[in-house]
Amino acid sequence: MNIGIIGIGNRATAYFKLPEYGSDIRITALCDTNDSNLDTAIQDFFHGDESIRRYNDYMDLMACDDIDAVVICSPDTTHVSIVEEAMKRNKRILLEKPVATTGDDLIRLYQHSINYKKTILPGFVLRYTDLYQKVKEIVDSGEIGEIITLEANETLSPIHAASFFRRWHRLSVNNGGFLNAKCSHDLDLISMMTSRKPLYVSSFGSNIHFNHHHSKSILCSQCEKLMSCKYVDQTINKLSSADYDLCPYLVDSDIVDHQVVSILYEGGITASFTVSMHASAGNRMMTVYGSEGTIRSDFVKQEVIVDYIKPQRQEIYKIDELSPGHGGGDEKLCRLFIDKSDNNQVYDGIMSTAIALAAEKSRNKKMVISMKEFASYLY
Ligand SMILES: NC(=O)c1ccc[n+]([C@@H]2O[C@H](COP(=O)([O-])OP(=O)(O)OC[C@H]3O[C@@H](n4cnc5c(N)ncnc54)[C@H](O)[C@@H]3O)[C@@H](O)[C@H]2O)c1
Repeated sequence: MNIGIIGIGNRATAYFKLPEYGSDIRITALCDTNDSNLDTAIQDFFHGDESIRRYNDYMDLMACDDIDAVVICSPDTTHVSIVEEAMKRNKRILLEKPVATTGDDLIRLYQHSINYKKTILPGFVLRYTDLYQKVKEIVDSGEIGEIITLEANETLSPIHAASFFRRWHRLSVNNGGFLNAKCSHDLDLISMMTSRKPLYVSSFGSNIHFNHHHSKSILCSQCEKLMSCKYVDQTINKLSSADYDLCPYLVDSDIVDHQVVSILYEGGITASFTVSMHASAGNRMMTVYGSEGTIRSDFVKQEVIVDYIKPQRQEIYKIDELSPGHGGGDEKLCRLFIDKSDNNQVYDGIMSTAIALAAEKSRNKKMVISMKEFASYLY
């Protein structure tokens, strides 16, 4: 299988490993609008291999008939146009999340991709991890009875939080809002656990902390608080679009630093999700409450605890240590992508972004959003 990768930034490095997962897997072309990223990638990750074709325009890469599959990891607003071109050329597609950033693009994507016969995999790496597969297995086994309600949260470490203000992600026009950019994973996991469609969404959130009162210098390196600030980032990543010296307080941004989302699913199941950029460490926790028991999962501890109601007992599942690449999810997604059978999961990507955009509308307008009205084509 010959693979072309589009968008050679920070995320692309996860897909440079694709050839490690199959003997007939080759990366034969890279595309980026920025030549220096192509130079860096070929030198640093492909030992200067000159046989790898380089493109600045994804149309040129798509025109290569010998490229069977494409990975799209360019910025979020470019996803729908690029995936449409890939479908015209009949390629297998791995499309990074979020699949789209606006309601119009989402409809376009739905109309063009839902019946596509070849693989389209959104980059939902978390759903394939052993941890969430275990939670899903217990939910589906019926052991905890009927699913009643679910609560989940995501926290970001200071450096991770600040990184969103140091990249294009800081403006919601570039990603459909922070929830869509970062937490489309979590919204997907929640829908996956309930196996139901969402009916209503409401949300609140804002940016409380990252405002102009905390700093005077736009560059960390020139700031008087350099030694004490928790957001000073020493990362060196030549492929990333982040400016690690930029002060997260002083940039022009409109994203939230915390948000809560409530979802009513079919059958009366409810879910609540909270994201906070203010925590000592990044983590994801999820609790599923059933009529016969409760499942609690902790991503960092890689632990699933089940408490049964009657007879009262507890079962603890220790998943292996937290693996690199989203707890092993990156590798699982790569392996699924190169699997010969076709697998179109674009619906899940569309649903997750539809919930995120509905939540964004709810947050901005202070109203409850009916999903059947907001994204009627999904019902
Ligand atoms: N699945 C995950 O867990 C995960 C993790 C990180 C990022 N992502 C997603 O991956 C995507 C890329 O994120 P990133 O952090 O690597 O961003 P990035 O800014 O580091 O990289 C994007 C690259 O795309 C290039 N680019 C811009 N427009 C292009 C175009 N029209 N054609 C080709 N290349 C173009 C840029 O020059 C840049 O090199 C985003 O959609 C992001 O949400 C997913």
